[in-house]
Amino acid sequence: MIPFNVPPYTGNEDQYVLAAMRSKKISGDGEYSKRCQKWFEGNLNCAAALLTPSCTQALEMAALLIDIQPGDEVIMPSYTFVSTANAFALRGAKIVFVDIRPDTMNIDESLIESAITPRTKAIVPVHYAGIACEMDAIMDIASHYRVFVIEDAAQGIMSTYKNRPLGSIGHMGAYSFHETKNCTSGGGWLVDYQR
Ligand SMILES: Cc1ncc(COP(=O)(O)O)c(C=O)c1O
Repeated sequence: MIPFNVPPYTGNEDQYVLAAMRSKKISGDGEYSKRCQKWFEGNLNCAAALLTPSCTQALEMAALLIDIQPGDEVIMPSYTFVSTANAFALRGAKIVFVDIRPDTMNIDESLIESAITPRTKAIVPVHYAGIACEMDAIMDIASHYRVFVIEDAAQGIMSTYKNRPLGSIGHMGAYSFHETKNCTSGGGWLVDYQR
């Protein structure tokens, strides 16, 4: 049988998990969380990185942080995981799906501007399979119309766009450490890039 997924292990997990348990700080936000957040803040050159239990929760936090209200519109690709849309729909947002490009499977940046309305609050590009969206074009549209960009970089950890880490280009980014992702721990997290 070919397994659907084999989680990547580096070999240090056993000792770190034991050390975390023996530290008697097992509810999160302990030594390893802090080290992890610091590592990402340094390597992504972002203002703050915060570990959350999943990328889904990171996206939900992003929706709260940009104060999504019922009727706000959020633009995203029509091809993504359900959490991308649910995070904003849960706050009452109207999800505006934009078609994807056949070559990258990412949102077609040339179709975004015509989807913008006075109710648009955010654009959520998804970097499918670690392939970068056209972030220059997306950031230009966002700054012209003064809307947020929340990168769903669930699948894009350590991938780059023009030498910038995915997830660190928009106002916020969310990553996944789900078992099926490139790096795993069972947790996702949120980056705040606003300075
Ligand atoms: C594009 C995308 N967004 C969000 C998620 C949700 O990630 P998590 O399982 O960490 O909540 C996934 C997971 O598959 C994903 O692929």
